[in-house]
Amino acid sequence: MKIGFIGAGQMAQGLAKGLIMAGLTPAEKILSSCPRVDVMLLEKMRKLGCRTTSNNEHVANDARVLILAVKPPIVPKVLKEIHQFITPQHLVISVAMGITTRHIEQSLPPKSRVIRVMPNTPALVREGASVFSCGSATLEEDAATAHRIFSSVGTCDQIEEYLLDAVTGLSGSGPAYMFMAIEALADGGVKMGIRRELALKLAAQTLLGAAKMVLETGKHPGSLKDDVCSPAGTSIQAVHLLEKHGFRCALISAVEAGTQRSKETGGLF
Ligand SMILES: NC(=O)c1ccc[n+]([C@@H]2O[C@H](COP(=O)([O-])OP(=O)(O)OC[C@H]3O[C@@H](n4cnc5c(N)ncnc54)[C@H](OP(=O)(O)O)[C@@H]3O)[C@@H](O)[C@H]2O)c1
Repeated sequence: MKIGFIGAGQMAQGLAKGLIMAGLTPAEKILSSCPRVDVMLLEKMRKLGCRTTSNNEHVANDARVLILAVKPPIVPKVLKEIHQFITPQHLVISVAMGITTRHIEQSLPPKSRVIRVMPNTPALVREGASVFSCGSATLEEDAATAHRIFSSVGTCDQIEEYLLDAVTGLSGSGPAYMFMAIEALADGGVKMGIRRELALKLAAQTLLGAAKMVLETGKHPGSLKDDVCSPAGTSIQAVHLLEKHGFRCALISAVEAGTQRSKETGGLF
C-alpha cells in the first residue's frame, strides 16, 4: 500500500517509522512532503528510506492513502492545494486536532473518503493511543485501513466523532499530564535524597508498570490501589494527602479543559 504524508514533522515521522517496522509498507512506498525540501524534517524521512518532495500535489498523485500531518491552521491551505487531485480512490486521513471530517469533506470533491484520527505522542515510540472516526462517505474497508495504520504505533479504536474532542482532552493531551506527574514524582524523590537520574527512572517505570497492571490484569484501578494500601501503611497516608490536594479532581478537570480547547480549536477553521 502506497502511503503519502502531507507534512514531515514528529507525527508523520513516528507513523512512517511504525509502518515500516510493522512491515505494513516498505519505506520506498512512502512519500512525504513539506514546503522546504532542504529542511531537517525531510532529511529524517529520507533517513527512514522514504521518498520526499516539496510538492503536496505529488503526494496526492502518488498515493491513494493520504495522511494530513500538518498543524490545524495549515489544513485549509493544504486542502485547497490537493482538492483537484482527490479521486474516489483516495482515502484522506487527518490527524489535525479539532478539524472535523465534515469540514474536510466540504473542502474536497463530493463523496471524498475522509477519516479523522486523534493519535498521541507515544506513537513516536510505538506506544500510542489512537482513536478515529469515519466521515460520511467512507467505505467499509477504510476503517480497517486506518486501524492497520495506527495499530502499527500502538492501540487503535473507533469512536463516534462527537467524542473525539474528549479523546483529545484525555489521551491526546494526556502524555503532557503524565510527563508532569513523572517530573513531580522525581522531584519528590530528589527532595527525599535520591539522585535525580535514579528518581526519574523510578518515577517513569512506576507509571509504566502501573499502566501495564491496569491493561494486563483488567482489574479496576481502584482495586489495584486498594491492593497496595495496607492498613496504617505508607501508601494510604500518601493517598489521603493526594485526595486532600484534589489530585483526582485536578486530572478530571484537565481532561475537561483539554476537551473544551479542542472544541474551540475546531471552531476556528
Ligand atoms: N505530535 C503529536 O503528538 C500529535 C498528537 C496528536 C495530533 N497531532 C497532530 O498531528 C499534526 C502534525 O503534528 P506534528 O507534531 O507532527 O507537527 P510538526 O512537527 O510541526 O510538523 C508539521 C509538518 O507540516 C509541515 N508543513 C507546514 N506547512 C505545510 C504545507 N503547506 N504543506 C505541507 N507540509 C507543511 C511542516 O513543515 P515546516 O517545518 O517546513 O513548516 C512540518 O513538516 C497536527 O495537526 C497535530 O494536531 C500531533
